[in-house]
Amino acid sequence: MLKNKLYIKTWGCQMNEYDSSKIADIMKNELNCKITTSVTNANILILNTCSIREKAQEKLFHQLGRWKNLKKKNPNIIIGVGGCVASQEGKKILERAYYIDIIFGPQTFHRLPKMIYKVRQFKKYLIDISFPKIEKFKFFPLSKINTVSSFVTIIEGCNKYCTYCIVPYTRGKEISRPYKDIILEIKYLATQGVREIYLLGQNVNAYKYFDKEKKEYYTFVKLLKLITKIKNIKRIRFTTNHPKHFSDELINIYKKIPQLVNFIHLPVQSGSDKILYLMKRQYNIEEYTQIIHKLRNVRPLIQISSDFIVGFPGENKEDFNKTISLILDLDLDMSFSFIYSSRPGTPASKMKDNVSIIEKKKRLYLLQYYIRQQTKKFSLKMINTIQIILVEGVSSQNYKYFGKTENNRIVFFTSSKNYIGKFVKIKIIDSNIYSLYGKFISIYDI
Ligand code: 5AD
Ligand code: SF4
Repeated sequence: MLKNKLYIKTWGCQMNEYDSSKIADIMKNELNCKITTSVTNANILILNTCSIREKAQEKLFHQLGRWKNLKKKNPNIIIGVGGCVASQEGKKILERAYYIDIIFGPQTFHRLPKMIYKVRQFKKYLIDISFPKIEKFKFFPLSKINTVSSFVTIIEGCNKYCTYCIVPYTRGKEISRPYKDIILEIKYLATQGVREIYLLGQNVNAYKYFDKEKKEYYTFVKLLKLITKIKNIKRIRFTTNHPKHFSDELINIYKKIPQLVNFIHLPVQSGSDKILYLMKRQYNIEEYTQIIHKLRNVRPLIQISSDFIVGFPGENKEDFNKTISLILDLDLDMSFSFIYSSRPGTPASKMKDNVSIIEKKKRLYLLQYYIRQQTKKFSLKMINTIQIILVEGVSSQNYKYFGKTENNRIVFFTSSKNYIGKFVKIKIIDSNIYSLYGKFISIYDI
């Protein structure tokens, strides 16, 4: 019998990482696939693409060019392209890479085993980049978990249509997963030793599911309350958020749910109202600032990170300076920043891109300098403090255990005992910008 060996290459965001892990689970479950990290050992090659920034199309064909040679040597190899570039380009991919067998989208990867079966049977390529409603989650097998922190998708797609963004076109409309399925999945994860849940979605705080039997809506806040009832889930993180949905109800729940970490990723994108308007972000700086102030009223030590885009069409030096001021005024922590990249078919791609690439690079460099300074400041402040971390594993390089603080810093420490899966108290003794070194103090029972 043919032994299936799967190699997956993943680009991009946490959502894609999560999708790839689910592809692996489904393939293990349905095709008895072994997962390999060596592309030359595999007979099924999957590329899970991302098109949010940079020249994704060029990168795709570059990668496929390498796999073409493997297929030449062994025509039985199946090559599948999935993710957002596949969703965006569809059949066009075959014009330049005729040797591809399967093209699938972010909402159809659960159909891969069937597609592989058909390709082998009929020796013809298959394309399925449709957006079936939340169907894929039903296909996720309950796999063995060997981590103490786990991602769980709660909402898919996006309806916001920010003018620069390709996501609504490639991942489809916003759809919330039934809350009962989410709770079942988290309960299962908890029985497998998971202690921290990372809720995922393009806009998790827009979560809204209508329960037809109860005739009531389940909002993000309601979902959080249900998760707190699950035994052994001691920490809850979530990403990413939209300021428009960061309601007072959500802010106030921080008073009542200690499992919610003191850290929130809340992308603002720009410090200029003019640019926010052109981006169609649906909030202004005053509103964003109010959310942060209210959060700090409820949780004085909460740290906020953000995403920024520099060089958006129409951004002048004054707009850019407002972004720098915002980072300093709101004392933001380690944030992500990107040069604006025109995405095909988006409204912004039709705007006049009047900022030169040299100027964009200069702005990004300066912005990242300030973000780094902020991150460093917060990390340095942690020296000599006691932090509670969830021990996640042991690093192969220096045999030190590691885990994360509430504010997303990795802490390394030495220990003769294995505390993986436990919360421990660590005294921080040294810091890099993003990681810390500490001394084990004691077990911490939450
Ligand atoms: N150009 C640059 N950055 C982008 N992002 C999304 N689309 C683009 C684009 N066209 C960034 C935003 C978003 C993050 C996930 O990626 O900052 O929050
Ligand atoms: Fe893209 Fe805006 Fe939706 Fe985020 S909210 S995924 S930036 S369209």
